[in-house]
Amino acid sequence: MSAPLPAFRHEPHGSPVAADERGRQIADPGFGRVFTDHMAVVGYTAAEGWHDPHITARKPFQVDPACAVLHYAQEIFEGLKAYRLDGGGIALFRPVANAARFRRSAQRLAMPELPEELFLGSLEALVRADAHWIPAIDGGSLYLRPFMVASEAFLGVRPAGEYLYIVLASAAGSYWKGGVRAISLWVSHDYTRAAPGGTGAAKCGGNYATSLVAQAEATRRGCDQVVFLDAIERRWVEELGGMNIFFVFADGTLRTPPLTGTILPGITRDSILTLARDEGLRVEEAPYAIDDWRTDAERGDLVESFACGTAAVVTPIASARGPDYSFQVGSGGMGQLTARFLDRLTAIQRGRAPDPHAWRHLL
Ligand code: PLP
Ligand code: COI
Repeated sequence: MSAPLPAFRHEPHGSPVAADERGRQIADPGFGRVFTDHMAVVGYTAAEGWHDPHITARKPFQVDPACAVLHYAQEIFEGLKAYRLDGGGIALFRPVANAARFRRSAQRLAMPELPEELFLGSLEALVRADAHWIPAIDGGSLYLRPFMVASEAFLGVRPAGEYLYIVLASAAGSYWKGGVRAISLWVSHDYTRAAPGGTGAAKCGGNYATSLVAQAEATRRGCDQVVFLDAIERRWVEELGGMNIFFVFADGTLRTPPLTGTILPGITRDSILTLARDEGLRVEEAPYAIDDWRTDAERGDLVESFACGTAAVVTPIASARGPDYSFQVGSGGMGQLTARFLDRLTAIQRGRAPDPHAWRHLL
């Protein structure tokens, strides 16, 4: 039995967004732009530990310009969604898994670990306060962004002694403009995302900062997303800037790169592996070389590939391109197994299917 959730003091927003304006904002929110009225906040100091959990108005706040996160990027975050269930009620999807990953990220960034009950308590309190922001549109959800920053004002290079843990909530539709469609990938042979011993398995802002130049190159080359190769051999396909990757072979085998420490252990990735094993599919967590991906796709031995993550859900991959090659994946559209995983996963998330693994966390 886990510990009881701590009470979050509630300071209601003095002037929340009016209902008609909120309705306008959440009619077509896209991703990451429309924020709710409140946020959850918990402080940490070495002397006091975690203290003062509360819900308050979401607003800019002051930090000292010497604040450690602004200089040394001591920051971690999470991403998960709250869904309105078809049968009524609201559920978070696998928040206990996010709580565990947040603690592992904290360890890697030399930050204090947030207890699971504070993590879950912050999400529940915030979603309760702002549930009316969940868009009632196809694919709508409340995207939750817990994060922790080093807030101590000190320029010496050592783990900070003060931190702020905050959760934002953002009304979300599709991550992709215009809804789910097959995406094109740029294979980065120049930039890598993570090296052995580095922070690839942690969800820290620094990983995303270093991915931006590669993503910008992908965009410049007319591709939707960048896909990274391993840092040692520049051969093994690892993941996208913000999504894991799966391959489907003509014989029905499903493969995804293994968790060797350089890729993020995605919760969507784990959910798809579990669903695939439940179905009796042959599943491999094994490396896949970029050259093999290309030749297998060209020969028809590889029939589908897809990206997955909380924000992107399950997104088909149409094609991949590098400096001197380009290939199409399968039909270039939504593959059969890709569609099935998208459907099965969202059916569980939205309460339209049984939940054999108890992934829905009801509020
Ligand atoms: N890989 C990276 C680099 C990510 O940023 C994300 C998104 O969170 C994922 C994979 C997918 O993880 P999850 O399924 O837990 O959202
Ligand atoms: C997520 O899917 O939750 C992510 O964090 C990906 C991206 C928005 C950074």
